[in-house]
Amino acid sequence: MSATTVEQDEAPVSWALRFTLADWDTRASVRSSQHDYLLPDDVPQQLLTRYWFPPAFLPYLAHPAIVAAGREVTHRLTANHLVHFLDYTTLLEHRIVNRAVEVIVHGELPAFVPERMKTGALQLYTDEGYHALFSHRLAQQIASLYGFADRPQMPLRISRLNALIARTPEHNRALAWFLLGFVSETIIARELLDVCRDSLVSSVNDMLRDHLTDEARHSRYFAEVFHYLWLTLNTRQRTFAARTLLHVIDIFFEVDERWLRQSLRSNGIAENTIEDILGSLTQLEAKRLRAKTGAVATLDALKKAGFFALSTNRKLFVKAGLIDE
Ligand SMILES: [Fe+2]
Ligand SMILES: [Fe+2]
Repeated sequence: MSATTVEQDEAPVSWALRFTLADWDTRASVRSSQHDYLLPDDVPQQLLTRYWFPPAFLPYLAHPAIVAAGREVTHRLTANHLVHFLDYTTLLEHRIVNRAVEVIVHGELPAFVPERMKTGALQLYTDEGYHALFSHRLAQQIASLYGFADRPQMPLRISRLNALIARTPEHNRALAWFLLGFVSETIIARELLDVCRDSLVSSVNDMLRDHLTDEARHSRYFAEVFHYLWLTLNTRQRTFAARTLLHVIDIFFEVDERWLRQSLRSNGIAENTIEDILGSLTQLEAKRLRAKTGAVATLDALKKAGFFALSTNRKLFVKAGLIDE
């Protein structure tokens, strides 16, 4: 289903025609990609013009002290960032997104799940398993190339998401899992699209593009399921959903300070530079801007579902700086 078809579907087409991953058998990476996700032999040559991770995504690389440390340090920092991102992706796919998908498949949601929605969820589950596999495979190779130890580490985001579930009362837990999946899946496509813009080491690029191709479909799927579900929720469930969404979005845009501090330290960056870098990243305004731009697909899906038709929801999201008044 193309983006334009989704637009055209808006009202007149019945719900029964939604909730599939279009042409999954021929287009899903797990079914069609020929990439082997092995590091190329000419990594040193490629690194003369390419990167492990887009520098534009890591504004701290522009800090004068890091620039002065030289290109080797920049490559090491970006490699470390990529490995952490891939380890995080492996955990996210298995422990968060696929748990949300299980909730859809196995009838845990407080709504009837049509057969097509179930099929789409099972396809998505398969995709995420493959994403975890290729993310892990590349992370292992890069970590061994640079001698990175102490991994995988538990990323702040995953532990905060788990903590949110742990404190959610049992009767709302399945809904909370679904919302985690919804936010994650509507954010990741945009994240991968941005990451793919720069020219990266070839097998990293192939892997990220294969992932992005699948995630564009996943984002639409979760947006549609959210819309369907939103219409079935009662007032109590809607209030819970609105608050939970705000928490989850907040979690997705928080900087993992502990990890970044350790990454910079292990590359010999001075403490005063580290404080400088963390200070600019953790400012409230910087975080709000990251959330507002990074969650644009999530916010768009909420709008299409009629979420902001409720003035309390509008006020909550305005207050959080996610939408304009
Ligand atoms: Fe994925
Ligand atoms: Fe996905």
